Amino acid sequence: MKIIEERQSVRKYSDKEIPVSVLKSILNAGRLAPSWMNVQSWKFILVRSAENKELLSKLACNQPHVKNCDSVIVCVADTGAWDKEEFSKILKQKGIADAAIENIMTMPAYYPPVLGEATVKLRTVEQLTYAVAYMMLEAEDNGVKSCIIGAMSNELTEINHELSEEVKAKLGLGKKEIIASMITLGYEAEPAPVRKLRKDFNEVVFLEKIGSLIE
Ligand SMILES: Cc1cc2nc3c(=O)[nH]c(=O)nc-3n(C[C@H](O)[C@H](O)[C@H](O)COP(=O)(O)O)c2cc1C
Repeated sequence: MKIIEERQSVRKYSDKEIPVSVLKSILNAGRLAPSWMNVQSWKFILVRSAENKELLSKLACNQPHVKNCDSVIVCVADTGAWDKEEFSKILKQKGIADAAIENIMTMPAYYPPVLGEATVKLRTVEQLTYAVAYMMLEAEDNGVKSCIIGAMSNELTEINHELSEEVKAKLGLGKKEIIASMITLGYEAEPAPVRKLRKDFNEVVFLEKIGSLIE
């Protein structure tokens, strides 16, 4: 809770380098996040080169912290993880029998592709969210500050398609992969007081039904 209360988005970083061991620990936290039937529909690309950070900043509507940070984690939503072959591999690992797997793949509550492309996109990005949160918290626990980047050209915003395709090609990404978000990482340039601008507890939390408060 201390980490959660003290974490805030940081957009100004010092020149101090993050050790690779710390970066690996942050990335590993993402890998270990939970996901829908363990689909793990994500890939994480660590970007540290000035050239690629420049390109990612351009992708993110020229946000300066994307190029001024130590490292960027490009968070890729991998819609291909739901493909029959990939998904059954995961279910087999859990010990589920072939006939049951076939059955699961006909059920909208268990297998998003039954509901079409838009649902697959939504569910894939949904899974990535947990991994992003895990990585942010692991960063914070290591004294590394971060900022999630969502404002960018990609298949979700549908802006600047050409630039998005250029960046994807540079990062070796294919059609089924979406850069859904990025995490900028670095040590804070100068500590700023924590500002938690949040809705009140009783505005968003209820007991049994909306309107009834937890005393
Ligand atoms: C999905 C998502 C996308 C975001 N996109 C951006 C962004 O593109 N640029 C940015 O500077 N901050 C971005 N943020 C950070 C939010 O503005 C920030 O988390 C929010 O204002 C709360 O402030 P705090 O993180 O300091 O508590 C994003 C956060 C989330 C969760």
